[in-house]
Amino acid sequence: MNWRRLRTFLITALILCIIPATRYYQIDVPLLHFLQGSRHVDPSSLHLAGEFVENNLGTEQDPDGSVTVRMIAQQYLFIPHCILVPAGVPVHLRITSADAVHAVTFNGTDYSVKVLPGTISEAKLQFPSPGEYKMPCREFCGAGHYAMRSELKVVPRDQFPALRGEERGNCGAQ
Ligand code: CUA
Repeated sequence: MNWRRLRTFLITALILCIIPATRYYQIDVPLLHFLQGSRHVDPSSLHLAGEFVENNLGTEQDPDGSVTVRMIAQQYLFIPHCILVPAGVPVHLRITSADAVHAVTFNGTDYSVKVLPGTISEAKLQFPSPGEYKMPCREFCGAGHYAMRSELKVVPRDQFPALRGEERGNCGAQ
């Protein structure tokens, strides 16, 4: 019996068992984050930690004048339910799903962004003039799919910086 070969075999077998075990018990492995890339998010803890916690959602002004919009899609709504963006500036949309596959669309435009659980969908949008857009879900996601919609309000560019943070995420307060 060749002991060195046996040892190599046992170590290899052990490692091969550990990998599925970390997945089964959902052990957090930093190396896995690296391999999955920065667009990976855990759909079950979106509201607890990371980019998509509640007070991070909505529209955020970027230093270069563009804005970033963060949203969550879940059965059967988009959070926030209504968002405000300035007209004529690049809008960087970052959206993820808490459950099923959804697709956020903007009526009257060609924009359509597929939203999957576990990953961040990114899209660059722009709305040239003030107006309102309904944002229905266009991917069948279950019983409430046809009622799943949000709303986007595009306000004049110079008006936007004067709005407080909470007004940007809640058009109804206007
Ligand atoms: Cu969400 Cu259809």
